[in-house]
This record gives sequence, C-alpha cells and structure tokens, in this order.
Amino acid sequence: MSLLFTPMRIGDLQINNRFVHSATHECMAGETGLVTDRMIRRYERLAKGEIGLIIPGYLYVHPLGRAAKYQTGIHSDEMIDGLQKLVNTVHQYGGKIVFQLVHSGRQTTKEIIGQTPMAPSKKGRDPMLLVKPREMSEGDIQEIIESFGSAAKRAALAGADGVQLHGAHGYLINQFLSPFFNHRNDAWGGSDENRFLFLKEVILEIRKKIPKGMPILIKLNTQDYTPKKGITPDLAKEYAKRLKSLGINGIEVSCGVLSYSVFNVMRGDVPVKELVLNLPWWKKHLARIMLKRMMGKFDLQEGYNIEAAKMIKPVLGEVPLFVVGGLRRVSHMEEVLEKGYADFISMSRPFIRQPLLVKEIKEGKTEAVSCVSCNKCLAAVANDMPVACYNKNFPVS
Ligand SMILES: Cc1cc2nc3c(=O)[nH]c(=O)nc-3n(C[C@H](O)[C@H](O)[C@H](O)COP(=O)(O)O)c2cc1C
Repeated sequence: MSLLFTPMRIGDLQINNRFVHSATHECMAGETGLVTDRMIRRYERLAKGEIGLIIPGYLYVHPLGRAAKYQTGIHSDEMIDGLQKLVNTVHQYGGKIVFQLVHSGRQTTKEIIGQTPMAPSKKGRDPMLLVKPREMSEGDIQEIIESFGSAAKRAALAGADGVQLHGAHGYLINQFLSPFFNHRNDAWGGSDENRFLFLKEVILEIRKKIPKGMPILIKLNTQDYTPKKGITPDLAKEYAKRLKSLGINGIEVSCGVLSYSVFNVMRGDVPVKELVLNLPWWKKHLARIMLKRMMGKFDLQEGYNIEAAKMIKPVLGEVPLFVVGGLRRVSHMEEVLEKGYADFISMSRPFIRQPLLVKEIKEGKTEAVSCVSCNKCLAAVANDMPVACYNKNFPVS
C-alpha cells in the first residue's frame, strides 16, 4: 500500500491520506467577502475527489488586510454562516478543512482597502503595486494580533478543523519575519527574536481563542528571493525551531514574495499577455517589459521546495511537514514520503485542473498530474477572474 494513502495525524486531527489542497485564492467571493455558491460548488468537487485536507484560499482577518477584490473574508461575524456552509460541504464527503488566515500588510493597494497599506516599516516602494506603505503603530500591531485571534475563533465557530497562518509569499507575517521588510528598532524588529515576536503573539492570541487541541499550522517561506537579504534557509530553520517550541502543529514550506519574485512562488511559464490584460495603459508597457525579461527563467523544477523541506524536517521531529511546489509525478511524491523529506504532499495548480486527482491516483488511473504550469490560472485571478484551468482558453481580447 502506498504511503500516500496512509492516514496521519496533525495534532488531534486525523487526515485520511497525505494529500493537501494548498491554499488557492478562488477569486469567487462576493465584494463584501462572503462565501458564494460558486465557491461551495468548487469545494464540493474537490471534496468528492478525496483530498485528505483542504485549505481554501487565503481569508483576510481585517478589512485593511485584504489583498484582492473577490477574496473571502473572516474579518467579521457575518462571514461565519457562509464559512460554515463551506466546512459542512467538505465534511459531508469525509474531508478535513483548515482555514488560511492572512493580513496583506503592504502587499495590497489603496484601491482595495481604501487607504495607504500598512507595514512593519515604510522603507521602499512595492515594485509591482507601486505602494509606499505607512509604518504600523503599536496600536495597529495590537489590533491586528487581536484580529487574527478573532478570525481564528470564527474559524472554530464555523466548524473548521484548524487554521493555517499565511506566513509566506510576502504578506504581513512574512514582512515582520524578513529583515528585508522589517527595519524596526523597537520590540518588533532589530533581531531575529524581535522579528519573530509578531508571529509569536499571533499564535499565543489564537491559542487563547480556539478550542484546546485545534491545530494551528503555518505556511512559511524558506527563501524570500528579495533583492536584499530576507528570509533565508538558515533563518527559516531558526524560525521553525521557535515555532516548534511554541507548539505549532504543522509547517508547510514554500518560498518567494509575490511583489518581488512571484515566479519563485509558482514556478513555470510567464504568461505575459494574460498577466497584463487589464492593467492601465501606463502600467502595461512597463509590466510587459519586466515580465518578458522573466520568461524562461523560472521553468518548473519538480518539487522545488524539497531541498528546503529536507532542511526543516529534522528541526520539526514529529511535527508534520507539508511540502508544496511543483509536485507532479506520483512515484516522486511517494519517494518524498518514503525518504521522510515531508509528511504531506501539498498541491495547488494540479487541483485547479484535476479536482478528482487524488481519487484518480488511488484508482491507479494517473501516474502524473496533467497541469503544465502555464500559470494562466494565476493570470486569471490577477485579472479578478474566477480561478480555473485556462490553459487552452484564456479570454485574451
Ligand atoms: C491561482 C493561485 C492562487 C493561489 N492562492 C494562494 C493563497 O491564497 N494562499 C497561499 O498560501 N498560496 C496561494 N497560492 C500558491 C499555492 O498554494 C502554491 O504554494 C504554489 O502554487 C505552488 O504549488 P503548485 O506547484 O502545486 O501549484 C496560489 C497559487 C495559484 C496558482
């Protein structure tokens, strides 16, 4: 029997197999952040596909931490009913569901949140969004820590099986952890320990707000790929040690910061004309030049976070490690588990194309996923279109 289909526990939570649907922004919520029927249908299909653990797209914990127009919210109690429906849909098919919590920090725009985005430090202008953030006050920091706690409580009220902190891809937690973004000289910056404090306080606050035993997971960058030193593998290892001693229930290793190195997050093709589709004319030209320069430099490497996983796993011991990024062949996935590099196989793009993938693997119908990493799904959500596989049919005018 393949290890892929053996159950495993995450804290007290039993997962039926080793497959995880890594958080994937659906771009399907209502404009106020509510779950829609379209989203429910998406997760019903995925749950029917027997994925052990489903993590839907990032949920914003605070109105000022929203990253995208059609992003789902968990920032107010009005969101709970819809989220509960989502949970019930997945549970109905025997799957487990964990909510990913995010605050975007500086990686959003005034158009989306109605004011200048905030960040640990104001240094630097975002090269993609062109945002110059404002520095967070002590009051902002406390308010956001509390909003993570309240959001986790809503996740529990909605019946979710756990929460995952989005500590990767350049969002607020990543910004605090990274010396590239965090230039503070107070308690929240200046040393590794201080840069870790925000995340630590978020975890402690969440623990106070959710039932005992409900897992807290994190998606963590092991390499930021920012122009100057951000999170490096060594620093990630150091943070993983701290997370373990705080009682984290699982770490998903990822890399890349969307605004600086998006194709490290999602290696594969650079779909230039699809990505620039709806940009205003004055941004289009420059964006096209920048994107064209990236073409061919980020080709998919199979399991591109596995080296990082190998490095972090010994630090974690029994705490489960999920690896995401470019996992495409079933025999390779088996090898990753057999060699003990990771405990869970996490995927995003393959499930966009093949929601029934796990069931197909179980039935011996699939040896490799059919996703070709064209990244047109990414271009779609960047254009506020619902996520889907647009490999052959992207509506470029
Ligand atoms: C359309 C799209 C939306 C994504 N949304 C999220 C998200 O909400 N949260 C997150 O942590 N990662 C998100 N990701 C990144 C994936 O979870 C994953 O880390 C990355 O795509 C690499 O895995 P893969 O090769 O299996 O696709 C997204 C990726 C894509 C393509």
